Amino acid sequence: MISNLTINPQRLWDMLMETAAFGGTAKGGIKRLTLTDEDKAVRDWFRKECEALGCTVTLDEVGNMFARRPGKRSDLPPIALGSHLDTQPTGGKFDGVLGVLGALEALKTLHEAGYETNAPIELINWTNEEGSRYAPAMLASGVFAGVFTREFADSREDREGISFGSELDRIGYRGTEKAGGHKLGAFFELHIEQGPILEAEEKMIGVVQGVQGMRWYEVVVTGRDAHTGSTPMTMRKNALLGATRLIDAIDAIAFDNLPGVGTVGLVEVKPNSRNVIPGEVFFTVDFRHPDDAVLDVMEAALKEKVAAVAAERGLEIVLTPVWNSPAVKFDPDCIAAVRAGAEKAGFASRDIVSGAGHDAAYIARIAPTTMIFVPCKDGLSHNEAESSTLEECAAGAQVLLSAVLAYDERFAGV
Ligand code: GLV
Ligand code: MN
Ligand code: MN
Repeated sequence: MISNLTINPQRLWDMLMETAAFGGTAKGGIKRLTLTDEDKAVRDWFRKECEALGCTVTLDEVGNMFARRPGKRSDLPPIALGSHLDTQPTGGKFDGVLGVLGALEALKTLHEAGYETNAPIELINWTNEEGSRYAPAMLASGVFAGVFTREFADSREDREGISFGSELDRIGYRGTEKAGGHKLGAFFELHIEQGPILEAEEKMIGVVQGVQGMRWYEVVVTGRDAHTGSTPMTMRKNALLGATRLIDAIDAIAFDNLPGVGTVGLVEVKPNSRNVIPGEVFFTVDFRHPDDAVLDVMEAALKEKVAAVAAERGLEIVLTPVWNSPAVKFDPDCIAAVRAGAEKAGFASRDIVSGAGHDAAYIARIAPTTMIFVPCKDGLSHNEAESSTLEECAAGAQVLLSAVLAYDERFAGV
């Protein structure tokens, strides 16, 4: 039996709009890169809100935030829910934020009703999910899950050479607890779909089965700076031309391995002067596919192309793998709890696999985990125009609350 508690849609919406001001952009999105002053501001807000509900807020050594609400049984590990409050440089108002604030709304609903769960409930804000400022993505949930060390996280540098560790200390969000130092009984993450399927099929809830595999690489192409006017076409070592050939090839590799996807999203050209032949180019590669074996094929094709372009153009090209997050399958009991929550609320749902990366992908290694998706307009995300309606956000938070309470039932009378 799942309880009849109902979340407050308007209160959730108001929190989404209020916090969108921390790093709000002129185009209606959010620029709240991890560990910046804007990230600190939203963290301060989040901590205060949780404390007002009587939760104890703790931090671990990589800045993950945990707000705990006690249950009837303090011997049980908490049922956790949450996501991330950091955004892309041209991020929207919902990616990650909905998962944290939807969970906060669920906690507010429990608090208001004086509802006592069996297990403790823990609301989590994971540090640096986006991976935009510090690669790789899902860095601090990765440390929590034992995928990365704290030292590795601390040493990551942004494109200005400023480290994760120094920024975490600067904003005052380094805690003393070892990452992964406490157990989670389960983890539920609400998120916008970031793709077009739910909207196209008019389904309100995506029951997420897992996350596709992801691999990131960095490429440095080295040629030779030279004068654009006096260097004949046959005597150039144009690093940008080599990079261009590879960027085109990366697109083709993805098309050869559908539904795989391949993207170059960050390019830096040196010296970036209109009358100098570019001597060095840095760029990133993002490959994804639901099957890790196909990612092996895509990687082999990329390596082959790198060697071919280097030989053909007289360039030095170094390809460095920087992240490999294998495909993930979520927990059947957690999935069943989400399905039950969607059915109880009367929402149309469908099973779905996540194309995007999420903290849940790493937490699935250490605790029973799943996710809940809601639609977003035109499937658009990582864009300031990203949008979901009040009803969609509320539906997600309602199913999140119901799923957590359904999962908590297993501890009744134990
Ligand atoms: C994280 O947001 C990712 O999917 O890259
Ligand atoms: Mn996200
Ligand atoms: Mn994102």
